[in-house]
Amino acid sequence: METFDWREKLFESLSFPTLILAPDMTIVAASKRFLDKHNYSKKQVTGRKCYEILYQSEAPCSQSSCPLRLALIDKKGTSSIKKTKRPSGEEVYEDRVCSPILDEKGEVGYLMLSLRDVTKTKLLEIEIQKTNEFLKNIIASSTAAILVADMKGVILLMNQSARELFGYSDKVAVGTSIAEYLYTPGGARSIMKKLRSPDYGGVGKLYTTEMTIINSSGEEIPVEMTASIIYQDGKEVATMGIYNDLRPKIEIEKKLKEAERIKLEQSNKMASLGQLAAGVAHEINNPLSGILIDASLILEELDEDSPIRDDMQNIVVDTHRCKDIVKNLLAYSRQAETKRELFNINDVIEQTFAFLEHHALFQNITIKKEFSSSMLTCEGDKNQLVQVFTNIIINAAHAINGKGNITIRSSRDKPKGKIYIEFSDTGCGISKEALPKIFDHFFTTKEEGKGTGLGLGTVKSIIEKHGGKIKVKETSPEGTTFLIELPLFKVTETTPI
Ligand SMILES: Nc1ncnc2c1ncn2[C@@H]1O[C@H](COP(=O)(O)OP(=O)(O)OP(=O)(O)O)[C@@H](O)[C@H]1O
Ligand SMILES: [Mg+2]
Repeated sequence: METFDWREKLFESLSFPTLILAPDMTIVAASKRFLDKHNYSKKQVTGRKCYEILYQSEAPCSQSSCPLRLALIDKKGTSSIKKTKRPSGEEVYEDRVCSPILDEKGEVGYLMLSLRDVTKTKLLEIEIQKTNEFLKNIIASSTAAILVADMKGVILLMNQSARELFGYSDKVAVGTSIAEYLYTPGGARSIMKKLRSPDYGGVGKLYTTEMTIINSSGEEIPVEMTASIIYQDGKEVATMGIYNDLRPKIEIEKKLKEAERIKLEQSNKMASLGQLAAGVAHEINNPLSGILIDASLILEELDEDSPIRDDMQNIVVDTHRCKDIVKNLLAYSRQAETKRELFNINDVIEQTFAFLEHHALFQNITIKKEFSSSMLTCEGDKNQLVQVFTNIIINAAHAINGKGNITIRSSRDKPKGKIYIEFSDTGCGISKEALPKIFDHFFTTKEEGKGTGLGLGTVKSIIEKHGGKIKVKETSPEGTTFLIELPLFKVTETTPI
């Protein structure tokens, strides 16, 4: 029977590239797989140190990363993974498994080193680690509070927002069974009941629901939560809750309500101010008329060169001014009584000009009218709208300061049911600071005695009472355009017009 050295055959049949080393790391044998893989001949490796051949290094590997040294000390098989570069530059991960071969005395005679290429597995592991890390980051950085507990109520995960909301640190909460204490009594049970019912988003799900949680200091916090059961192989393994703190929303709602209350109080104040103004205006109107008539009569009778003629003239002018203010106050307080009639807006604008045309203020001002030829039927109080247009046009004339243009455009958008009226002037424009305040009552930039600041406030409330809107469409040092939007009256077959 032919004999063969089975030891050598055994060595050659190992599935991984393998080296046999002396305790001083000198290579005494290399398997064929090793030689083929690394492209060496037996001669080239025998007698060389393992690190010279494996890593082209002149010094041994560090103690901690060398499995051979450990095997020498422990006399047990050991392994470690090393990232290394092949001469081609390719990066690989190698699992280096080292088994000591002991002699009769139990000392390490030789070491067997198998090198296994685990690059694919290692890269996959790194990829999974990265994905895990990414998912963890998403959960950690979510602004919604996320909490996961197992079926016994032991906390498994609490992200940063949840820690802030519930007031627990990771150390205290994770691993302890506190889930039940995070809700008002019976809360946790009710969530579980809903989660298992098909009625709240399907079995295993709970759609957004408002409830109260309790933080670590015992404070009750209103939240909006959604929850779900996590299943593994069809079995319930955990529950996950996502919470949004409702306190900021409730705070904003409270502030809004408070603002509305203040606004209402303010408008009540304005209403009583209006009544007061109406009373005062009414009382002052008659004596003012008396002063005006008497002063005008005296002025007429004075000689041309009378020394008091100028003073008398001033009295007449100032009394006229007082009457204007009184008229404004009366108009402002009378807004409550709105009449309802139908008219064409173009006619109302024309009527306004009939009043204003002869005013000295308009002597050097060119008025351009670009009216729509369609019927701009509006329902409301004609006299109040005359007052609106008068205030806007006088403001424009003041802004122009004597010379320039005022253009009035009217149009309609029938499908939208709107009438548009634009007033453009070539005046000084409205400053950025004044713009948000121009509709406020008593806001004026005009010198004392020239403006009461009631004009635009009155305009706005009349327009709004007619279901319309007014805004500054544009303003610059070259001029200003006000845009008024009013509802276009819908003519039906039964409407008499
Ligand atoms: N067309 C305009 N161009 C520039 N500024 C304007 C124009 N219209 C209004 N303003 C500014 O808005 C302010 C408020 O106007 P508003 O009509 O309410 O009051 P007033 O004209 O100052 O006084 P009143 O109208 O009561 O006599 C004005 O003082 C002015 O600064
Ligand atoms: Mg005005």
